[in-house]
Amino acid sequence: MARSKNPVKNIVILISGGGSNMQAIVQAARDQHWFEKYGAQVACVVSNRADAQGLASSAALGIAHHVVDHTSFETRAAFEIALAERLDAYQPALVVLAGFMRILTADFVARYAGRLVNIHPSLLPAFTGLNTHQRAIDAGCTVAGATVHMVTAELDLGLILARAEVPILPGDTKDALAARVLAQEHLIYAQAIAALLAQQLKMQHDATEMNPN
Ligand code: GAR
Repeated sequence: MARSKNPVKNIVILISGGGSNMQAIVQAARDQHWFEKYGAQVACVVSNRADAQGLASSAALGIAHHVVDHTSFETRAAFEIALAERLDAYQPALVVLAGFMRILTADFVARYAGRLVNIHPSLLPAFTGLNTHQRAIDAGCTVAGATVHMVTAELDLGLILARAEVPILPGDTKDALAARVLAQEHLIYAQAIAALLAQQLKMQHDATEMNPN
């Protein structure tokens, strides 16, 4: 592979809260040697909330972290300009939404087209939006889960990269179900990102073969 010719692929992770998916991705990157395999590293974590618990975890993991507080901006567009400035400083190969709870405009999504991924706590296309686990229980579903997908301007509806199914047990509460789904999220999100990195590397390799200079 011709990785040495290519710049490091920076992964930036956007969070709003607990950051457990972020931690699982950072851990997978380290355990699975993403830098050596794909030339990729988790370069930074950005939160739209100053009180996100995940910020302390990124500090403990030794990952650069920033806050772009959406409440400091008068409009969604102004927030997104500041967010994009922060992200673009890292020239990200992937922008990973990991419990990032802001809706993004079509302009923002277009800027990172093909590089923007999300995890959603339902078996998409079922239960887009919020409160997914309670809605699945209330609907009498026997299976819930999570979906990793590319982000498009339409909420929670881009190309599906991975899904995990989790049975809904008799008497399940939304919190108990959410905890079991979250454990699966940690596995499939890291797997899906590794697959994307492998695909990007192959595309670079193929391009180098076609145009060696
Ligand atoms: C996860 O369950 C994720 O799927 C969900 O927020 C949680 C974040 O947990 N995301 C969404 O609901 C996005 N629409 P974490 O902060 O511990 O990774």
